[in-house]
Amino acid sequence: MIRCWRLDCARQTLVLGSHRDHMAEVLYWGARLPDTEDLEALFHAHALDVTGGMLDENPELSICPEATRSFPGQPGLILRALDGTPMLPKFCFLDAEEAPGQLTLRFRDLNEHLTYTAHFAIDPDTHILTARAGLAATSPVHLHWLAAPVLPAPQLSDDMHDFAGRWCGEFQMNTTPWSAGIRYRENRTGRTGHEHFPGLIVPLRGTTNTQGQCYAFHYGWSGGHRMVAEELPDGRRQVQFGHAARTQLAPDTHFETAPLYATFANHGMNGCAVAFQRHLRDRIVTWPDAKRPRPVHYNCWEAVYFDHDLPVLKDIADRAAALGAERFVLDDGWFGNRDDDTRALSDWEVDPRKYPDGLDPLIDHVHSLGLSFGIWFEPEMINPDSNIFRAHPNWALGGEDQIMGRQQMALNMALPEVRDYLFDRMAEVLGGHKIDYVKWDHNRVLPAPDAAQTLGSYALIDRLRQAFPRVEIESCASGGGRIDAGILSRTQRVWLSDSNDAIERLAIQHNAALFLPAAITGSHVGPRLCHTSGRTLDIRLRAWVAAQRHMGFEMDPRELTEDEAEVLTRVTTWWKANRDWMMAADILRLDAADSSVTAEQHRARDGGRFVAFVGKARTSDQIAPRPLRLARLDADAMYRVALINRDDAHHLSRGNPALKQGPIELSGAYLMNHGLTLPWSFPETMWVVEGTRI
Ligand code: GLA
Repeated sequence: MIRCWRLDCARQTLVLGSHRDHMAEVLYWGARLPDTEDLEALFHAHALDVTGGMLDENPELSICPEATRSFPGQPGLILRALDGTPMLPKFCFLDAEEAPGQLTLRFRDLNEHLTYTAHFAIDPDTHILTARAGLAATSPVHLHWLAAPVLPAPQLSDDMHDFAGRWCGEFQMNTTPWSAGIRYRENRTGRTGHEHFPGLIVPLRGTTNTQGQCYAFHYGWSGGHRMVAEELPDGRRQVQFGHAARTQLAPDTHFETAPLYATFANHGMNGCAVAFQRHLRDRIVTWPDAKRPRPVHYNCWEAVYFDHDLPVLKDIADRAAALGAERFVLDDGWFGNRDDDTRALSDWEVDPRKYPDGLDPLIDHVHSLGLSFGIWFEPEMINPDSNIFRAHPNWALGGEDQIMGRQQMALNMALPEVRDYLFDRMAEVLGGHKIDYVKWDHNRVLPAPDAAQTLGSYALIDRLRQAFPRVEIESCASGGGRIDAGILSRTQRVWLSDSNDAIERLAIQHNAALFLPAAITGSHVGPRLCHTSGRTLDIRLRAWVAAQRHMGFEMDPRELTEDEAEVLTRVTTWWKANRDWMMAADILRLDAADSSVTAEQHRARDGGRFVAFVGKARTSDQIAPRPLRLARLDADAMYRVALINRDDAHHLSRGNPALKQGPIELSGAYLMNHGLTLPWSFPETMWVVEGTRI
């Protein structure tokens, strides 16, 4: 008997089938099929031929490929009995439950007493397909690997993109050609990591940012993932995502993967990017007050580091407020005897030497300026040089002889007493003061990966959010070391990178936009002389790069010249005037003909307006700028286009391109097919173009 199921949204269809009660397989995933498609015919059409040197039938590439069914690739499940004997289940169909946009399939193994469940849901608005798998056993077993429901990868794709990175260099795209065998990513660091953003993009041949077909995946888990992208000997391709292997350390009777988010799009990588941006912002993040405009941040880290002095901080707050800041975030250094990064993590009590009257004098001052107040914590961490470590050395995770990370160890978050302690300390700070924001840091990798650690962190955040539902949380881990949908379902902002170098940031945030919307992506104007790169950049570039995302400042405002303060105030005022639509806009990465240019277009949800940020990292090879094609405009509509910072044109730009003179009116067709001709500019500058549909 053949059973088939389908899930649709307006732009894609997923069809699953099961034959002879076998584990289901994806028969089709891609552009929307007609409602009249005969799924049984599709099942038969999908079967591959056999020839010499093959088995007499092709084993299905199922949603959980089984070693017992002659599957020639990586299985979706690896487990052992308590005594260590490998278990080799062979699942049979149990039941299916269908609801609009949702499908749950269950399969049972009678010999091993296991039940496998796959759940699929497709969001009609964001076009994100969410898939997760669960395994239940009647007695405890050891899990080595459980893949979220396995999806096929397209055959007409030559390369796949996944992500690497480092401190101050997040979201570096790796491109690997498909070939026989596996592309294997496994993150053993115990946190999402700069090095291993859990995402994969599979463009079809010829696809760019703005055109072509594309598939994309993201695994929503903060404890380290494993990805297998495999091409089988018969040419079929499978994509598996799950927790890093062997990280569920204790035997158990129930296991679940994190959600795997996936999507297909017909209009370039941007189609997938926009689906993820919208899904993260509108479905995953839970906002204490969704209507509250994103406030302009001021963060004092790069201004004062550990050197907290009340009059100085007040002065900085005054200046930040005058520039337009709306939230002041007190970073590391306010607690214990934290004079540098060697000590006091976990001693979450206000340092009386720096704050003899507690935090209130600073908080009151900040509030008197009309700013809200946020504070830094690094809850999962402990310095051996701390009172808490001296009292509870057994609270630290891992062996005594482990390698330190920033002179610190992680706390064992699986211990309820550790979570209780942290909850009490944090609740005292949050409950005793008017604080509406926490910057939650996680500055080292774990001594060894352990899923229980991640679940412990999640439990602590969830408990705090329940107790303080108005407090927003920023996920930071030495910059962008903990960015994923798991943490984002509990937080509202990510500190994308410790790099405030606007040139580096331009690239990092551009790639991050393949998944992250502007509203949750923090971006700060750093010091003139960047502390992490040594580069000196003009305030115009620094300000506009920060204005592309959730804007903030992080330099010491006392260093600003009059001109710098004027530019920064102006750009901040512009950002505030536009944030309502920009923070809900889609970020479209543009295909720039000039490789020195990184350009993106923020398109309002109703398509009525856009702003394009055209950053130039270095001098172009050719002498004049190449036209820049815009994206997703209405071809037949006319647009009024204005270069809003045309006054920044250098006198070496001595011609008269139209945009330099003032606004122009052009059709969407022209803007998308020919593109904008911008004035000549220096490297390390940015043009900002506003467009309105007439
Ligand atoms: C990490 C963060 C920084 C800052 C410091 C404080 O490096 O990424 O932004 O908060 O910790 O120690």
